[in-house]
Amino acid sequence: MYIGIDLGTSSVKMILCDKEGNIIKTVSREYPLCFPHEGYSEQNPEDWYNKTIEGLRELTEGCGDKIKGLGIAGQMHGLVMLDENDNVLRPAILWNDSRSTKECEYLNNVIGTKKLTEMTANIAFPGFTAPKIMWVRDNEREIFDKCRKIMLPKDYITYRLTGVFCTEPSDASGLLLFDVKNKCYSKEMLEICHITEDMLPEVYESFAPCGKVKKEIATSLGWGDVTVSPGAGDNAGAAVGMGVVGQNMCSVSLGTSGTVFITNDHFCVDNKNALHSFAHADGNFHLMGCILSAASCNKWFLEDILNSKDYAQCEKGEADGNNKVFFLPYLMGERSPHNDPYARGAFIGMSMDTKRSDMLKALMEGVCYALRDCVTVAREEGIVIDAVRVCGGGAKSALWCKILANVLKVKVLKTNCEEGPSYGAAILSMVASGAYGSVKEATDGIVKIKECIEYDVEAAEKYDKGYERFRELYARLKDWYRG
Ligand code: XUL
Repeated sequence: MYIGIDLGTSSVKMILCDKEGNIIKTVSREYPLCFPHEGYSEQNPEDWYNKTIEGLRELTEGCGDKIKGLGIAGQMHGLVMLDENDNVLRPAILWNDSRSTKECEYLNNVIGTKKLTEMTANIAFPGFTAPKIMWVRDNEREIFDKCRKIMLPKDYITYRLTGVFCTEPSDASGLLLFDVKNKCYSKEMLEICHITEDMLPEVYESFAPCGKVKKEIATSLGWGDVTVSPGAGDNAGAAVGMGVVGQNMCSVSLGTSGTVFITNDHFCVDNKNALHSFAHADGNFHLMGCILSAASCNKWFLEDILNSKDYAQCEKGEADGNNKVFFLPYLMGERSPHNDPYARGAFIGMSMDTKRSDMLKALMEGVCYALRDCVTVAREEGIVIDAVRVCGGGAKSALWCKILANVLKVKVLKTNCEEGPSYGAAILSMVASGAYGSVKEATDGIVKIKECIEYDVEAAEKYDKGYERFRELYARLKDWYRG
Protein backbone atom coordinates (compact mmCIF):
# COMPACT_ATOMS: atom_id res chain seq x y z
CA MET A 1 0.00 0.00 0.00
CA TYR A 2 1.03 3.58 -0.64
CA ILE A 3 0.36 6.83 1.18
CA GLY A 4 -0.20 10.20 -0.48
CA ILE A 5 -0.23 13.35 1.64
CA ASP A 6 -1.48 16.78 0.57
CA LEU A 7 -0.27 19.46 2.96
CA GLY A 8 -2.92 22.04 2.05
CA THR A 9 -3.67 25.53 3.30
CA SER A 10 -6.73 24.65 5.36
CA SER A 11 -5.93 21.02 6.18
CA VAL A 12 -3.68 18.06 5.57
CA LYS A 13 -5.39 15.34 3.53
CA MET A 14 -4.06 11.80 3.34
CA ILE A 15 -5.00 8.77 1.31
CA LEU A 16 -4.05 5.13 1.45
CA CYS A 17 -4.22 3.22 -1.81
CA ASP A 18 -3.01 0.05 -3.46
CA LYS A 19 -0.79 -0.27 -6.52
CA GLU A 20 -3.81 -0.21 -8.86
CA GLY A 21 -4.81 3.14 -7.37
CA ASN A 22 -7.85 1.88 -5.45
CA ILE A 23 -8.40 4.16 -2.49
CA ILE A 24 -8.65 2.25 0.74
CA LYS A 25 -8.97 5.08 3.22
CA THR A 26 -8.79 8.86 3.46
CA VAL A 27 -8.18 11.01 6.54
CA SER A 28 -7.87 14.76 6.99
CA ARG A 29 -6.96 17.11 9.80
CA GLU A 30 -7.46 20.89 9.87
CA TYR A 31 -5.08 23.49 11.26
CA PRO A 32 -5.36 27.24 11.74
CA LEU A 33 -4.45 29.82 9.11
CA CYS A 34 -3.55 33.24 10.51
CA PHE A 35 -3.87 36.64 8.86
CA PRO A 36 -1.98 38.76 11.46
CA HIS A 37 -2.15 41.92 9.26
CA GLU A 38 -3.90 42.76 6.02
CA GLY A 39 -2.09 40.87 3.27
CA TYR A 40 -0.19 38.61 5.72
CA SER A 41 -0.85 34.86 5.73
CA GLU A 42 0.98 32.50 8.09
CA GLN A 43 0.91 29.01 9.54
CA ASN A 44 2.83 27.16 12.18
CA PRO A 45 4.97 24.30 10.75
CA GLU A 46 4.64 22.44 14.06
CA ASP A 47 0.85 22.27 13.46
CA TRP A 48 1.49 20.74 10.03
CA TYR A 49 3.74 18.08 11.50
CA ASN A 50 1.58 17.21 14.51
CA LYS A 51 -1.59 16.95 12.42
CA THR A 52 0.21 14.89 9.77
CA ILE A 53 1.44 12.35 12.34
CA GLU A 54 -1.99 12.25 14.02
CA GLY A 55 -3.66 11.61 10.64
CA LEU A 56 -1.09 9.02 9.54
CA ARG A 57 -1.71 7.06 12.74
CA GLU A 58 -5.44 6.90 12.00
CA LEU A 59 -4.88 6.24 8.28
CA THR A 60 -2.69 3.19 8.75
CA GLU A 61 -4.23 1.68 11.86
CA GLY A 62 -4.22 -2.10 11.52
CA CYS A 63 -2.23 -2.17 8.25
CA GLY A 64 1.05 -0.43 9.13
CA ASP A 65 3.13 -3.43 8.05
CA LYS A 66 1.72 -3.21 4.48
CA ILE A 67 2.93 0.35 3.79
CA LYS A 68 5.64 0.40 1.12
CA GLY A 69 5.86 4.01 0.00
CA LEU A 70 4.88 7.56 0.93
CA GLY A 71 4.85 10.77 -1.07
CA ILE A 72 4.00 14.35 -0.10
CA ALA A 73 2.46 17.12 -2.16
CA GLY A 74 1.90 20.50 -0.60
CA GLN A 75 1.05 24.17 -0.80
CA MET A 76 3.84 25.85 -2.76
CA HIS A 77 6.15 28.84 -2.13
CA GLY A 78 5.81 28.94 1.71
CA LEU A 79 8.92 30.10 3.55
CA VAL A 80 10.06 27.86 6.43
CA MET A 81 13.25 28.95 8.22
CA LEU A 82 15.23 26.79 10.66
CA ASP A 83 18.15 27.69 12.95
CA GLU A 84 21.33 25.68 13.51
CA ASN A 85 19.48 23.30 15.85
CA ASP A 86 16.64 22.80 13.38
CA ASN A 87 14.22 24.91 15.42
CA VAL A 88 11.59 26.77 13.38
CA LEU A 89 12.51 30.47 13.61
CA ARG A 90 9.17 32.10 12.78
CA PRO A 91 5.72 31.12 11.44
CA ALA A 92 5.83 30.07 7.80
CA ILE A 93 4.96 32.88 5.35
CA LEU A 94 2.52 31.37 2.84
CA TRP A 95 1.90 31.47 -0.92
CA ASN A 96 -0.97 33.98 -0.56
CA ASP A 97 0.95 36.47 1.60
CA SER A 98 1.60 39.79 -0.12
CA ARG A 99 3.90 41.57 2.36
CA SER A 100 6.88 41.39 -0.01
CA THR A 101 5.40 43.87 -2.51
CA LYS A 102 8.36 46.27 -2.14
CA GLU A 103 10.90 43.47 -2.61
CA CYS A 104 9.06 42.36 -5.77
CA GLU A 105 9.12 45.90 -7.13
CA TYR A 106 12.90 45.92 -6.56
CA LEU A 107 13.36 42.54 -8.25
CA ASN A 108 11.12 43.30 -11.24
CA ASN A 109 12.19 46.92 -11.77
CA VAL A 110 15.80 47.17 -10.59
CA ILE A 111 17.12 43.68 -11.31
CA GLY A 112 14.58 43.61 -14.14
CA THR A 113 12.14 41.04 -15.46
CA LYS A 114 14.43 40.14 -18.37
CA LYS A 115 17.32 39.23 -16.07
CA LEU A 116 15.01 37.43 -13.62
CA THR A 117 13.59 35.38 -16.48
CA GLU A 118 17.10 34.49 -17.66
CA MET A 119 18.03 33.37 -14.15
CA THR A 120 14.83 31.64 -13.03
CA ALA A 121 12.38 31.50 -16.00
CA ASN A 122 9.98 33.64 -13.93
CA ILE A 123 9.40 37.14 -12.63
CA ALA A 124 8.78 38.10 -8.99
CA PHE A 125 5.35 37.71 -7.40
CA PRO A 126 4.84 38.47 -3.68
CA GLY A 127 3.76 34.85 -3.08
CA PHE A 128 7.08 33.46 -4.30
CA THR A 129 9.74 32.51 -1.77
CA ALA A 130 12.76 34.68 -2.69
CA PRO A 131 11.02 38.05 -2.12
CA LYS A 132 9.85 36.75 1.26
CA ILE A 133 13.42 35.83 2.21
CA MET A 134 14.40 39.39 1.31
CA TRP A 135 11.53 40.73 3.43
CA VAL A 136 12.78 38.77 6.47
CA ARG A 137 16.33 39.95 5.76
CA ASP A 138 15.19 43.58 5.72
CA ASN A 139 12.56 43.49 8.47
CA GLU A 140 13.57 40.72 10.90
CA ARG A 141 17.36 40.81 10.74
CA GLU A 142 17.88 38.76 13.91
CA ILE A 143 15.85 35.90 12.49
CA PHE A 144 17.57 36.10 9.12
CA ASP A 145 21.00 35.97 10.79
CA LYS A 146 20.08 32.85 12.72
CA CYS A 147 18.69 31.05 9.67
CA ARG A 148 20.64 27.99 8.49
CA LYS A 149 18.03 26.11 6.47
CA ILE A 150 15.32 27.41 4.13
CA MET A 151 12.64 25.01 2.97
CA LEU A 152 9.19 24.68 1.47
CA PRO A 153 6.20 23.48 3.53
CA LYS A 154 6.00 19.88 2.33
CA ASP A 155 9.81 19.56 2.47
CA TYR A 156 9.64 20.40 6.16
CA ILE A 157 7.44 17.33 6.67
CA THR A 158 9.80 15.18 4.57
CA TYR A 159 12.71 16.49 6.64
CA ARG A 160 10.99 15.64 9.91
CA LEU A 161 9.97 12.18 8.65
CA THR A 162 13.25 11.16 7.00
CA GLY A 163 16.00 13.50 8.21
CA VAL A 164 16.77 14.21 4.53
CA PHE A 165 16.94 17.90 3.60
CA CYS A 166 15.55 17.73 0.08
CA THR A 167 13.09 19.11 -2.44
CA GLU A 168 12.13 18.40 -6.06
CA PRO A 169 11.88 20.51 -9.24
CA SER A 170 8.15 21.31 -9.30
CA ASP A 171 8.14 23.04 -5.91
CA ALA A 172 11.72 24.35 -6.22
CA SER A 173 10.57 26.22 -9.36
CA GLY A 174 8.37 28.46 -7.18
CA LEU A 175 11.27 29.59 -4.98
CA LEU A 176 12.45 32.11 -7.59
CA LEU A 177 15.92 30.84 -6.68
CA PHE A 178 15.82 27.96 -9.14
CA ASP A 179 17.05 27.95 -12.70
CA VAL A 180 14.06 26.00 -14.03
CA LYS A 181 15.53 25.29 -17.45
CA ASN A 182 18.69 23.70 -16.04
CA LYS A 183 17.07 22.38 -12.84
CA CYS A 184 19.68 23.82 -10.48
CA TYR A 185 19.87 26.83 -8.13
CA SER A 186 20.70 30.20 -9.66
CA LYS A 187 23.90 31.44 -8.02
CA GLU A 188 23.07 35.03 -8.96
CA MET A 189 19.67 34.85 -7.28
CA LEU A 190 21.24 33.42 -4.12
CA GLU A 191 23.61 36.39 -4.06
CA ILE A 192 20.75 38.84 -4.54
CA CYS A 193 18.98 37.29 -1.52
CA HIS A 194 22.22 37.10 0.55
CA ILE A 195 21.93 33.34 1.09
CA THR A 196 24.22 30.40 0.30
CA GLU A 197 23.44 27.11 -1.43
CA ASP A 198 24.08 25.04 1.71
CA MET A 199 20.98 26.69 3.22
CA LEU A 200 18.81 25.15 0.49
CA PRO A 201 17.57 21.57 0.09
CA GLU A 202 19.12 19.11 -2.34
CA VAL A 203 16.96 18.60 -5.44
CA TYR A 204 15.81 15.07 -6.36
CA GLU A 205 13.35 14.21 -9.14
CA SER A 206 9.81 13.93 -7.74
CA PHE A 207 9.61 10.24 -8.61
CA ALA A 208 13.05 9.24 -7.25
CA PRO A 209 13.38 7.82 -3.72
CA CYS A 210 14.90 10.41 -1.38
CA GLY A 211 15.03 8.37 1.85
CA LYS A 212 13.17 6.17 4.31
CA VAL A 213 10.91 7.09 7.20
CA LYS A 214 13.10 7.33 10.33
CA LYS A 215 13.11 4.13 12.36
CA GLU A 216 11.68 5.67 15.55
CA ILE A 217 8.77 7.28 13.68
CA ALA A 218 8.06 4.12 11.66
CA THR A 219 8.08 1.97 14.83
CA SER A 220 5.76 4.35 16.67
CA LEU A 221 3.29 4.14 13.75
CA GLY A 222 3.62 0.35 13.45
CA TRP A 223 5.30 0.64 10.02
CA GLY A 224 8.26 -1.29 8.57
CA ASP A 225 10.59 0.00 5.89
CA VAL A 226 8.83 2.86 4.05
CA THR A 227 10.39 4.53 0.98
CA VAL A 228 9.71 8.26 0.65
CA SER A 229 9.45 10.18 -2.61
CA PRO A 230 10.05 13.94 -2.39
CA GLY A 231 6.60 14.41 -3.97
CA ALA A 232 5.54 17.61 -5.72
CA GLY A 233 4.08 21.07 -5.33
CA ASP A 234 0.33 20.61 -4.88
CA ASN A 235 -0.53 21.66 -8.43
CA ALA A 236 2.01 19.32 -10.05
CA GLY A 237 0.86 16.60 -7.64
CA ALA A 238 -2.77 17.19 -8.62
CA ALA A 239 -1.83 17.09 -12.31
CA VAL A 240 -0.16 13.70 -11.82
CA GLY A 241 -3.21 12.51 -9.88
CA MET A 242 -5.38 13.40 -12.89
CA GLY A 243 -3.00 11.95 -15.49
CA VAL A 244 -2.00 15.41 -16.74
CA VAL A 245 1.57 14.52 -17.75
CA GLY A 246 3.60 14.60 -20.98
CA GLN A 247 2.75 17.14 -23.68
CA ASN A 248 -0.10 19.68 -24.00
CA MET A 249 -2.56 18.47 -21.40
CA CYS A 250 -4.42 20.84 -19.13
CA SER A 251 -5.95 20.73 -15.67
CA VAL A 252 -7.78 23.24 -13.51
CA SER A 253 -7.80 23.19 -9.74
CA LEU A 254 -10.65 24.88 -7.86
CA GLY A 255 -9.04 24.77 -4.44
CA THR A 256 -8.25 27.57 -1.99
CA SER A 257 -6.35 28.97 -4.98
CA GLY A 258 -7.37 28.35 -8.58
CA THR A 259 -4.87 27.16 -11.15
CA VAL A 260 -4.63 26.41 -14.83
CA PHE A 261 -1.86 23.88 -15.39
CA ILE A 262 -0.56 23.17 -18.91
CA THR A 263 2.01 20.43 -19.50
CA ASN A 264 4.95 20.74 -21.83
CA ASP A 265 7.59 18.19 -22.82
CA HIS A 266 10.09 21.02 -23.34
CA PHE A 267 11.01 24.17 -21.43
CA CYS A 268 9.19 27.37 -22.42
CA VAL A 269 8.29 30.84 -21.08
CA ASP A 270 5.29 32.92 -22.16
CA ASN A 271 6.09 36.27 -23.79
CA LYS A 272 4.45 38.38 -21.09
CA ASN A 273 5.68 36.38 -18.08
CA ALA A 274 2.02 36.24 -17.09
CA LEU A 275 2.15 32.48 -16.48
CA HIS A 276 4.64 30.66 -14.28
CA SER A 277 7.17 28.52 -16.12
CA PHE A 278 7.90 25.59 -13.81
CA ALA A 279 9.27 22.05 -13.90
CA HIS A 280 6.72 19.24 -13.71
CA ALA A 281 6.82 16.21 -11.42
CA ASP A 282 7.02 13.79 -14.37
CA GLY A 283 10.45 15.13 -15.34
CA ASN A 284 9.03 17.58 -17.95
CA PHE A 285 7.86 21.21 -17.66
CA HIS A 286 4.62 23.14 -17.41
CA LEU A 287 3.07 26.60 -17.59
CA MET A 288 0.70 27.66 -14.84
CA GLY A 289 -1.65 30.52 -14.09
CA CYS A 290 -2.56 30.90 -10.44
CA ILE A 291 -5.43 32.98 -9.09
CA LEU A 292 -5.17 33.54 -5.38
CA SER A 293 -8.81 33.05 -4.39
CA ALA A 294 -11.06 30.36 -5.88
CA ALA A 295 -13.05 28.03 -3.62
CA SER A 296 -11.99 30.35 -0.80
CA CYS A 297 -14.36 33.00 -2.27
CA ASN A 298 -17.36 30.74 -1.68
CA LYS A 299 -16.13 29.77 1.76
CA TRP A 300 -15.64 33.43 2.70
CA PHE A 301 -19.05 34.55 1.42
CA LEU A 302 -21.03 31.61 2.71
CA GLU A 303 -19.36 31.00 6.05
CA ASP A 304 -18.02 34.43 7.07
CA ILE A 305 -20.61 36.73 5.52
CA LEU A 306 -23.82 34.65 5.38
CA ASN A 307 -22.88 32.67 8.48
CA SER A 308 -23.91 29.41 6.87
CA LYS A 309 -22.34 26.06 5.99
CA ASP A 310 -25.14 25.08 3.66
CA TYR A 311 -23.12 24.67 0.45
CA ALA A 312 -26.16 23.13 -1.31
CA GLN A 313 -27.53 26.66 -1.82
CA CYS A 314 -24.57 27.34 -4.15
CA GLU A 315 -26.05 24.80 -6.59
CA LYS A 316 -29.16 26.88 -7.38
CA GLY A 317 -29.42 28.34 -10.85
CA GLU A 318 -28.22 27.55 -14.35
CA ALA A 319 -24.89 28.09 -16.12
CA ASP A 320 -26.76 30.24 -18.66
CA GLY A 321 -24.65 33.41 -18.90
CA ASN A 322 -27.63 35.63 -17.92
CA ASN A 323 -26.37 36.84 -14.55
CA LYS A 324 -26.40 40.64 -14.13
CA VAL A 325 -24.21 40.41 -11.05
CA PHE A 326 -20.42 40.26 -11.43
CA PHE A 327 -17.80 39.39 -8.84
CA LEU A 328 -14.08 40.14 -8.91
CA PRO A 329 -12.38 37.38 -6.89
CA TYR A 330 -9.33 39.38 -5.80
CA LEU A 331 -9.82 38.91 -2.05
CA MET A 332 -6.08 38.34 -1.52
CA GLY A 333 -4.90 40.59 -4.37
CA GLU A 334 -4.20 38.75 -7.62
CA ARG A 335 -1.28 36.78 -9.02
CA SER A 336 -1.91 35.67 -12.63
CA PRO A 337 -2.09 37.44 -14.92
CA HIS A 338 -2.30 40.86 -13.18
CA ASN A 339 0.44 40.50 -10.52
CA ASP A 340 -1.40 43.06 -8.42
CA PRO A 341 -1.26 42.79 -4.61
CA TYR A 342 -3.48 45.90 -4.32
CA ALA A 343 -6.49 44.40 -6.14
CA ARG A 344 -9.49 43.50 -3.96
CA GLY A 345 -12.81 41.68 -4.27
CA ALA A 346 -15.93 43.43 -5.59
CA PHE A 347 -19.56 42.67 -6.31
CA ILE A 348 -21.14 44.86 -8.94
CA GLY A 349 -24.43 45.06 -10.83
CA MET A 350 -26.91 44.29 -8.04
CA SER A 351 -30.48 45.64 -8.12
CA MET A 352 -33.49 45.30 -5.82
CA ASP A 353 -34.42 42.00 -7.45
CA THR A 354 -30.97 40.44 -7.02
CA LYS A 355 -31.25 37.15 -5.19
CA ARG A 356 -28.80 35.39 -2.95
CA SER A 357 -28.43 32.71 -5.64
CA ASP A 358 -27.39 35.39 -8.20
CA MET A 359 -24.60 36.50 -5.89
CA LEU A 360 -23.50 32.94 -5.14
CA LYS A 361 -23.44 32.18 -8.86
CA ALA A 362 -21.51 35.41 -9.53
CA LEU A 363 -18.77 34.14 -7.20
CA MET A 364 -18.31 30.98 -9.25
CA GLU A 365 -18.53 32.88 -12.52
CA GLY A 366 -15.99 35.46 -11.32
CA VAL A 367 -13.52 32.69 -10.48
CA CYS A 368 -14.05 31.08 -13.91
CA TYR A 369 -13.58 34.44 -15.67
CA ALA A 370 -10.33 34.97 -13.73
CA LEU A 371 -9.20 31.50 -14.83
CA ARG A 372 -10.12 32.46 -18.38
CA ASP A 373 -7.69 35.38 -18.07
CA CYS A 374 -4.95 32.75 -17.61
CA VAL A 375 -6.27 30.51 -20.39
CA THR A 376 -6.38 33.54 -22.71
CA VAL A 377 -2.65 34.17 -22.17
CA ALA A 378 -1.92 30.54 -23.07
CA ARG A 379 -4.20 30.62 -26.11
CA GLU A 380 -2.48 33.81 -27.30
CA GLU A 381 0.77 31.81 -27.21
CA GLY A 382 -0.83 29.36 -29.64
CA ILE A 383 -1.54 26.66 -27.05
CA VAL A 384 -4.71 24.71 -27.81
CA ILE A 385 -6.89 24.10 -24.76
CA ASP A 386 -10.07 22.23 -25.55
CA ALA A 387 -10.37 19.90 -22.55
CA VAL A 388 -9.44 20.38 -18.89
CA ARG A 389 -9.35 17.84 -16.09
CA VAL A 390 -10.68 19.33 -12.90
CA CYS A 391 -10.02 18.82 -9.18
CA GLY A 392 -10.27 20.67 -5.85
CA GLY A 393 -13.20 21.35 -3.52
CA GLY A 394 -15.02 23.50 -6.12
CA ALA A 395 -15.01 20.61 -8.60
CA LYS A 396 -17.54 18.82 -6.39
CA SER A 397 -20.13 21.40 -7.53
CA ALA A 398 -21.94 20.33 -10.72
CA LEU A 399 -22.98 23.95 -11.38
CA TRP A 400 -19.42 25.24 -11.02
CA CYS A 401 -18.08 22.59 -13.45
CA LYS A 402 -20.75 23.53 -16.00
CA ILE A 403 -19.94 27.25 -15.63
CA LEU A 404 -16.25 26.41 -16.10
CA ALA A 405 -16.98 24.46 -19.29
CA ASN A 406 -19.10 27.32 -20.68
CA VAL A 407 -16.72 30.14 -19.70
CA LEU A 408 -13.58 28.40 -21.02
CA LYS A 409 -15.38 26.71 -23.93
CA VAL A 410 -13.83 23.36 -23.10
CA LYS A 411 -14.82 19.85 -22.12
CA VAL A 412 -14.49 19.48 -18.37
CA LEU A 413 -13.31 15.99 -17.47
CA LYS A 414 -13.55 14.39 -14.07
CA THR A 415 -11.18 11.55 -13.23
CA ASN A 416 -11.58 8.57 -10.92
CA CYS A 417 -10.02 10.35 -7.96
CA GLU A 418 -10.98 13.86 -6.88
CA GLU A 419 -8.30 13.96 -4.21
CA GLY A 420 -5.84 15.52 -6.69
CA PRO A 421 -2.54 16.30 -4.94
CA SER A 422 -2.58 13.41 -2.47
CA TYR A 423 -3.41 10.91 -5.22
CA GLY A 424 -0.55 12.26 -7.33
CA ALA A 425 1.79 12.05 -4.34
CA ALA A 426 0.80 8.41 -3.81
CA ILE A 427 1.45 7.69 -7.52
CA LEU A 428 4.90 9.35 -7.27
CA SER A 429 5.69 7.14 -4.27
CA MET A 430 4.74 4.05 -6.32
CA VAL A 431 7.24 5.06 -9.00
CA ALA A 432 9.88 5.86 -6.35
CA SER A 433 9.32 2.42 -4.79
CA GLY A 434 9.75 0.68 -8.16
CA ALA A 435 6.10 -0.37 -8.65
CA TYR A 436 6.06 1.46 -12.02
CA GLY A 437 8.85 2.39 -14.41
CA SER A 438 7.77 6.00 -14.98
CA VAL A 439 5.12 8.52 -13.96
CA LYS A 440 3.46 8.16 -17.38
CA GLU A 441 3.33 4.38 -17.08
CA ALA A 442 1.75 4.71 -13.64
CA THR A 443 -0.89 7.29 -14.63
CA ASP A 444 -1.74 5.39 -17.86
CA GLY A 445 -2.51 2.37 -15.70
CA ILE A 446 -4.28 4.14 -12.85
CA VAL A 447 -6.13 7.27 -13.97
CA LYS A 448 -9.53 6.88 -15.66
CA ILE A 449 -12.03 9.49 -16.93
CA LYS A 450 -15.35 9.06 -15.16
CA GLU A 451 -17.37 12.04 -16.42
CA CYS A 452 -17.27 14.49 -19.32
CA ILE A 453 -19.12 17.82 -19.16
CA GLU A 454 -19.51 19.41 -22.61
CA TYR A 455 -19.97 23.15 -23.03
CA ASP A 456 -23.24 24.60 -24.21
CA VAL A 457 -22.72 26.75 -27.34
CA GLU A 458 -25.51 29.26 -26.66
CA ALA A 459 -24.56 29.83 -23.03
CA ALA A 460 -20.84 30.01 -23.98
CA GLU A 461 -21.61 32.91 -26.34
CA LYS A 462 -23.32 34.79 -23.54
CA TYR A 463 -20.37 34.09 -21.28
CA ASP A 464 -18.06 35.48 -24.01
CA LYS A 465 -19.86 38.81 -23.62
CA GLY A 466 -19.81 38.46 -19.85
CA TYR A 467 -16.07 37.89 -19.99
CA GLU A 468 -15.53 41.13 -21.90
CA ARG A 469 -17.53 42.98 -19.21
CA PHE A 470 -15.54 41.24 -16.48
CA ARG A 471 -12.21 42.22 -18.07
CA GLU A 472 -13.28 45.82 -18.27
CA LEU A 473 -13.98 45.94 -14.54
CA TYR A 474 -10.38 45.25 -13.46
CA ALA A 475 -9.03 47.65 -16.09
CA ARG A 476 -11.25 50.39 -14.66
CA LEU A 477 -10.60 49.63 -10.99
CA LYS A 478 -6.85 49.07 -11.20
CA ASP A 479 -5.88 52.66 -10.33
CA TRP A 480 -8.68 53.00 -7.79
CA TYR A 481 -7.29 50.03 -5.84
CA ARG A 482 -3.97 51.85 -5.47
CA GLY A 483 -5.67 55.09 -4.37
C1 XUL B 1 0.68 28.05 -6.94
C2 XUL B 1 0.17 28.55 -5.65
C3 XUL B 1 -0.98 27.87 -5.01
C4 XUL B 1 -0.55 27.09 -3.83
C5 XUL B 1 -1.79 26.62 -3.09
O1 XUL B 1 1.64 28.86 -7.51
O2 XUL B 1 0.64 29.49 -5.09
O3 XUL B 1 -1.70 27.07 -5.90
O4 XUL B 1 0.30 26.06 -4.19
O5 XUL B 1 -1.61 25.59 -2.29
